Amino acid sequence: MQVPVRRLAFAGAMLCLVAWPAIAQAPSAGAPSSEAPSSGAPSPGAAPRIDAQAAPSSITEPARAQTAIGRRGMVVTQEKRATRIGVEILERGGNAVDAAVAVGFALAVTLPRAGNLGGGGFMMVHLADRNESVAIDYRETAPRGIAADSFLDADGKADPEKSRNGPLAIGVPGTVAGLTLALERHGSGKFTLAELLAPAIALAREGIPVEDDLLDSLLLAQPRLARWPSAAKIFLKQDGTPLGAGDTLVQQDLAHTLDAIARDGARAFYTGPIADEIVAAAVNSGGVLRRSDIEDYMPVVREPVRGTFRGYDVLSMPPASSGGVHLVEMLNILEGFPLRSLRANSPASLHLMIEAMKLAYADRAEYLGDSDFVDVPIELLTSKDYAAELREGIDSRQAREVGSTLPDPPAGGGGNTTHFSIVDAAGNAVANTYSLNFNYGLGLVAGTTGILLNNTLDDFAAAPGAANAFGLTGGALNAPAPGKRPLSSMTPTIVLKDGKVHLVTGAPGGSRIITTVLQVVLNAVEYGKSIGEAVTLPRVHHQWRPDEVTVEKAMPAEIVRALTARGHNVRFGPAAGSAHSILAIPDGYMGAADQRARGSLAAGY
Ligand code: GLY
Repeated sequence: MQVPVRRLAFAGAMLCLVAWPAIAQAPSAGAPSSEAPSSGAPSPGAAPRIDAQAAPSSITEPARAQTAIGRRGMVVTQEKRATRIGVEILERGGNAVDAAVAVGFALAVTLPRAGNLGGGGFMMVHLADRNESVAIDYRETAPRGIAADSFLDADGKADPEKSRNGPLAIGVPGTVAGLTLALERHGSGKFTLAELLAPAIALAREGIPVEDDLLDSLLLAQPRLARWPSAAKIFLKQDGTPLGAGDTLVQQDLAHTLDAIARDGARAFYTGPIADEIVAAAVNSGGVLRRSDIEDYMPVVREPVRGTFRGYDVLSMPPASSGGVHLVEMLNILEGFPLRSLRANSPASLHLMIEAMKLAYADRAEYLGDSDFVDVPIELLTSKDYAAELREGIDSRQAREVGSTLPDPPAGGGGNTTHFSIVDAAGNAVANTYSLNFNYGLGLVAGTTGILLNNTLDDFAAAPGAANAFGLTGGALNAPAPGKRPLSSMTPTIVLKDGKVHLVTGAPGGSRIITTVLQVVLNAVEYGKSIGEAVTLPRVHHQWRPDEVTVEKAMPAEIVRALTARGHNVRFGPAAGSAHSILAIPDGYMGAADQRARGSLAAGY
């Protein structure tokens, strides 16, 4: 049987799109003209070519998650120093947002592969006293000099070298604006920005031992970092090998930059000499990023995507992330099946989940883009009616083949990006996922700022149907354009029960982020697993194209055989990303630090 998934996924949408009120979506204030030139191929002799698929990950197979209980609150991050900094802020009376800001800046120092000042991300905040949730979008934007054809070669084909490995890939960084905005709007008021930055500054100045995820990721990223002298001088030794066990990573330049932000706030990053150095780094290597692009950057406070699952409220990230929309879409589809009686990670429940994944990712490729630029049918895609229609087409015994005349994109992988979860004593919560895209981003440090720059513009569809580094395809809605945010899969998520925080989760992993979060939510909410088990259980992933299920190696062989018997193309793939999560328990919270990358820590207070 060959049923084109997209046509089915399409059917409901096409029906509804006719009657559907167009959501007024104006480009954000000051959105630049699309007529800017698209020059800027890397200058000869700038960065040597390297393998475009070079997004290696230090993620390993799942070991049992490290768990902790907190009576009042909890912090779970990828790096133990950052976790302790967050807990200390909470202990000193800070709220979850104060702690998140301190953690966000700390990870820029202690987890430089993904924690960042030079990238972007998304923060979900739940405010207990107002029973209100907000989504802060600090995703990178495309500079004015980026056009629809910026990432094409001379034959009009997508050129991954431009979108992944050269300076055209640099999006305008959003992290500093996003974290400072979060503090201004939702911090407790008990801490100044300088106080929250102080621990990060000390760690950058005094240095940290090279160990755990830092050690693992530096080894893998050496070729990317070696291309740029400004990065090599910080992360590599004189002989070009990466800092290793027994070495200390000292980041004096980054400490100066953080000092300036502590003194002058986000202005120091977006209008001062730091902005000049970022521009110079891009321009000198053939990029198109300009000072006005940086000055005009604005984070956006958005309404979360809202869904329900078995009476729980699910709050997650709206576009420019696809995460929330497709998490809710998949949950809606699966709500109609008796998953609990089928049991977690049984062939029957995995089969249904995989079928839901195919449908959601087919819709992602068709309908998602930056909603400040294009109409995205959020209401439709997250509606129970649409899910019911999709559910009708699922055969509970046989895998649907993905019909497509297009060549399969390469399978994506990787554990790039990082997520942290925080809950405070008042019941406020933060789920934050941010990224440089690849580990260490482009690998380019801007001048003497110590700031690693992202290569996030690869998340645009460089050409219709062209795949990004994670094998995700897209079309016109996710085409590059000046001022536009490339579509993300980051899925910071908060689940509420009776208005109170029940689960906080999120994950790294490129295209696998949304399916990872789905599985943590199902494990905790549907199957009633402890958060340790919810995070540890081996995961599966299908992203519509290529038509294959990637399973983690810990998945039992008999399950794999049973899935194959149902018609799934099963492949053992890389481990899915570290989903650091928190679940409410009767007397507080339990945190689970995913051990798929080393060095993570859950700590309560
Ligand atoms: N760069 C991966 C994502 O945002 O989905």
